[in-house]
Amino acid sequence: MKVNLGPPGWPSLEMMIRTLVLGLFLVGSTSALDSAWLPNDSYGTDEAAAQQFASDYNHTAEQVLYLSVEASWTYNTNLTDYNSAKQVEAAGIEQEFNYVWGKKAKELFLNTYGNFTDLELKKVIESIWTLGVANLVESERNQVSATPSSPTHDICKANIF
Ligand SMILES: *[C@@H]1O[C@H](CO)[C@@H](O)[C@H](O)[C@H]1NC(C)=O
Ligand SMILES: *[C@@H]1O[C@H](CO)[C@@H](O)[C@H](O)[C@H]1NC(C)=O
Ligand SMILES: *[C@@H]1O[C@H](CO)[C@@H](O)[C@H](O)[C@H]1NC(C)=O
Ligand SMILES: *[C@@H]1O[C@H](CO)[C@@H](O)[C@H](O)[C@H]1NC(C)=O
Repeated sequence: MKVNLGPPGWPSLEMMIRTLVLGLFLVGSTSALDSAWLPNDSYGTDEAAAQQFASDYNHTAEQVLYLSVEASWTYNTNLTDYNSAKQVEAAGIEQEFNYVWGKKAKELFLNTYGNFTDLELKKVIESIWTLGVANLVESERNQVSATPSSPTHDICKANIF
């Protein structure tokens, strides 16, 4: 098994353990990313749709972020294996969330956002898809131990947008 894909100096044993745990969660869990947190298919591609998209992203991101921060806090104040696993799981969900919304933002607005009149909105849409790209790279790194049928693996095989 290859475990040293992390940046130089990254403790590879810790990397391996975190990767394994994340892999197990992604393979074993049926509720990695709650479907209520996924962008639905009802968005158009114009500026009004982008407003709605950004606002939905915002509300959903706050919930996902809250759970992730809460899980980190719980682990940092109570260092059990269980809490560690929960923290890794929450981080994986956050990563997947960013990836999915980023991909969607690019699909929907790539050809139209150049014409948006609301510059703030333009920035928000741009930052959502930039986060998506960053999290694709991150999930590729974490994919080391994932099995071929796992969700992360499929995500990683998807086209880079
Ligand atoms: C799409 O998702 C948003 C936010 O998640 C929600 O407000 C909206 O009602 C959903 N639309 C449909 C058709 O499900
Ligand atoms: C959601 O919007 C509020 C108000 O505009 C902003 O302060 C907050 O940072 C946004 N949250 C996210 C996750 O973008
Ligand atoms: C620490 O976490 C464990 C779960 O791993 C829990 O059973 C225990 O009650 C927690 N301890 C405190 C002091 O919160
Ligand atoms: C953007 O605006 C330009 C100039 O008004 C127009 O020619 C072009 O078709 C618009 N693009 C889209 C995707 O609406």
